[in-house]
Amino acid sequence: MEITSTVEGVRSMVNKWRTEGLKVGFVPTMGFLHEGHESLIKRAVEENDRVVVSIFVNSKQFDKKEDFSNYPKDTETDIVKCNMAGAHILFTPEHDGMYAEGFSTYVDMETLTDSLCGQSRDTHFRGVCTVVAKLFNIVRPDKAYFGQKDAQQVAVVKRMVNDLNFDIEIIECETIREVDGLARSSRNIHLSQEEHHASIVIQKALRLAEMAIYEGENDPVIIQKYIKDEILSEKLARLDYVEIVDAETLKPKTKIEGKTLVAIAVFIGNVRLIDNFVC
Ligand code: PAJ
Repeated sequence: MEITSTVEGVRSMVNKWRTEGLKVGFVPTMGFLHEGHESLIKRAVEENDRVVVSIFVNSKQFDKKEDFSNYPKDTETDIVKCNMAGAHILFTPEHDGMYAEGFSTYVDMETLTDSLCGQSRDTHFRGVCTVVAKLFNIVRPDKAYFGQKDAQQVAVVKRMVNDLNFDIEIIECETIREVDGLARSSRNIHLSQEEHHASIVIQKALRLAEMAIYEGENDPVIIQKYIKDEILSEKLARLDYVEIVDAETLKPKTKIEGKTLVAIAVFIGNVRLIDNFVC
């Protein structure tokens, strides 16, 4: 695996592959890799001739300075994990390499970003779209891999790819979980043992809702109430939102039918966790 922190470094290697007719897969990440990220890389390796992974903690998608500076980092272990998963290039740009002085162009989306995580995280998706568009232009992959855990992010990236005519196929990959059901996340490291245990309530609430829908309940208000009550039963948990929306447009549903996304964000102590299911 080659490691490069320069745009030119990635471009020259990818250009060479392109002239050889090889298909390129891409997995953008912010590092501190876990099994969720690894599953994306492995899938990309299966489905492409070459795979590029990027690690870049994107300051522009964090609302609070503390969150950005507290973002966990372990580059040495990340390198080993990327290698083991079969990546061919690890792209690790520096902040100034991505956002040089005078940087002033952003990708801003009008819809899709107001609901769910967009409500409580003001400029988050503007930062995500901007960095993903930049990374797509640098790597120019055939396929890019994103996790369903961040369902709104996938919907937003798909919309952006469509709206801005990126010639890239977006592949959505299933959420990888810990044994107790908690979705793997770089943020889980901030949970104490007690909080980690408390976070099981997220899975419980979602499974309860999924079961009720499976048994025929199609009123979003009732499903939301089931979820709220379950989350309330855990004293360390505080619900940020529970929304039931169309999986593609992210518009709220008045009746559960068609492809529906049930998404929640919950604070366990100070750690904000998100999870969802699609039915
Ligand atoms: P990051 O949080 O590092 O996640 C990188 C990718 O891994 C995302 O597509 C995310 O959905 C996926 N992922 C995270 N946890 C997962 C899990 N438990 N199972 C499966 N996939 C999982 O998302 C970002 O970085 C950034 O916003 C980024 C797209 C890199 C732009 O900065």
